[in-house]
Amino acid sequence: MNKRICVIGAGPSGLAQLRAFQSEPGGVSRDVEVVCYEKQADWGGLWQYSWRTGTDEHGNPCHGSMYRYLWSNGPKEGLEFADYSFEEHFGKPIASYPPRAVLLDYIVGRVKKAGVRDAIQFNTLVRDVRAVGDGFDVTVRDCLLDCETTENFDHVVVASGHFSVPNLPHYEGFEHYNGRILHAHDFREAREFTDKDILILGTSYSAEDIGSQCWKYGCKSVTVAHRTAPMGYDWPSNWQEVPALSHVTGRTAYFIDGTSKDVDAIILCTGYKHHFPFLPDDLRLKTPNVLASDDLYKGVVWNQNPNLFYLGMQDQWYTFNMFDAQAWYVRDIIMGRIAVPDLTVRQADVAKRQAEEALLADDYACIAYQGAYTQELIDETDYPSFDIEAANKAFYEWKKCKKKGIMEFRNHGHVSPMTGAKAPAHHTAWVDALDDSLASYLKSG
Ligand SMILES: Cc1cc2nc3c(=O)[nH]c(=O)nc-3n(C[C@H](O)[C@H](O)[C@H](O)COP(=O)(O)OP(=O)(O)OC[C@H]3O[C@@H](n4cnc5c(N)ncnc54)[C@H](O)[C@@H]3O)c2cc1C
Ligand SMILES: NC(=O)c1ccc[n+]([C@@H]2O[C@H](COP(=O)([O-])OP(=O)(O)OC[C@H]3O[C@@H](n4cnc5c(N)ncnc54)[C@H](OP(=O)(O)O)[C@@H]3O)[C@@H](O)[C@H]2O)c1
Repeated sequence: MNKRICVIGAGPSGLAQLRAFQSEPGGVSRDVEVVCYEKQADWGGLWQYSWRTGTDEHGNPCHGSMYRYLWSNGPKEGLEFADYSFEEHFGKPIASYPPRAVLLDYIVGRVKKAGVRDAIQFNTLVRDVRAVGDGFDVTVRDCLLDCETTENFDHVVVASGHFSVPNLPHYEGFEHYNGRILHAHDFREAREFTDKDILILGTSYSAEDIGSQCWKYGCKSVTVAHRTAPMGYDWPSNWQEVPALSHVTGRTAYFIDGTSKDVDAIILCTGYKHHFPFLPDDLRLKTPNVLASDDLYKGVVWNQNPNLFYLGMQDQWYTFNMFDAQAWYVRDIIMGRIAVPDLTVRQADVAKRQAEEALLADDYACIAYQGAYTQELIDETDYPSFDIEAANKAFYEWKKCKKKGIMEFRNHGHVSPMTGAKAPAHHTAWVDALDDSLASYLKSG
């Protein structure tokens, strides 16, 4: 067997794929060559902060959607790698909701130890993938040399993420609005909105977190307009939830109940698109942001061509350890340890997952569902098994803590499913911790 595998993207999903091959039982097979193309200059995907917005240094769309002062929005105990615990990386227990730089350090620590960086070609944009025979021609542009090459691979693993290309709705009057309109993808620095009245559209994690950031760094007021339902937390006094936006005139936003508010900026926390400009229609995943994606057998195998795989394309409660479960599963298909059934069975698998998702009554059921999915994949490979129920429990506690105090939930410590140890409280309450650096987070007391 002589196989060439192309991985697109060196974020947490792509890195999971590299680590999966590096951890092959019996060592890396000399019969398999893995090449990872990454358009950014460094690894870590979204966790690699970029101050840039719009286009990157090569004129391509900027991938980054993360912003300064971002702390994990879920407990780290839900995303911990089963083969590399937080305690192993940091040499001591740390609190449950680390800032971005701390999580990046953790993600990178594992792959540095695994020694997989040489497999990655940085500053290399995948521009086109075509099915040719049983394999694929992959065309990439080396953005430093500004030249294009095409190589042939037996398998392609798409790990390019799906929280980078903004969903941008239009509302009447936007073109005449006398303030700033931006999408969450372009939000970088909460201090820009100090003393400002901001309007947020959307009620999911970006809305909650960007609103909280702006509040923490001193904005004058936060108004959140909901299309479906309000978030319903016990918000601070200068935060209000209002019905959907109707239109904008001058600096005034009008809502569908006839009320209005003058605002300095409108931040569209309206989600992202699954967008794969480098893929033709026969290979291109088209799905909303859901737990059971369309057309992916076991959530990873492209039904129309099972030599193509996608990682991390689901809506995400579980992240890093679910990407691992997927990457180990894909590795074992490629290595011939797991057989892929015929198209009818693959389609039935997707239909069953979607029917099950449709019955999920609340967020708790969604967490349990994605935990069970992660377990299902782990059970079929040698990825270290871990206590998924304990990870579910960390998420359930997190939900309850948020209900109790939306600006305090990050002060809570959860139990690690990997070590069984309860995380210590952080030295400073989240609301008072204005410095999000690694050094500040790791200092004791
Ligand atoms: C603002 C924000 C905050 C988040 N916070 C959390 C959190 O607190 N906890 C959590 O668990 N998850 C969080 N997430 C979810 C996040 O999706 C995952 O943590 C994780 O980054 C997904 O990894 P990924 O590798 O699938 O995608 P990404 O991290 O997006 O990585 C994809 C990689 O592919 C590269 N790429 C894309 N297109 C190409 C191309 N054509 N050619 C070459 N390379 C390409 C990109 O440059 C990037 O490096 C957050 C997401 C956002 C947007
Ligand atoms: N600190 C952190 O860790 C952090 C911070 C931010 C984001 N994230 C992560 O980023 C990912 C993406 O989250 P997200 O909140 O950006 O996207 P999302 O979860 O997909 O939510 C999209 C939101 O946009 C709303 N929406 C869509 N179209 C709209 C329209 N035309 N008008 C008004 N509202 C509209 C949706 O409302 P409906 O409910 O009405 O459909 C929904 O509330 C998640 O994985 C999240 O965990 C993490």
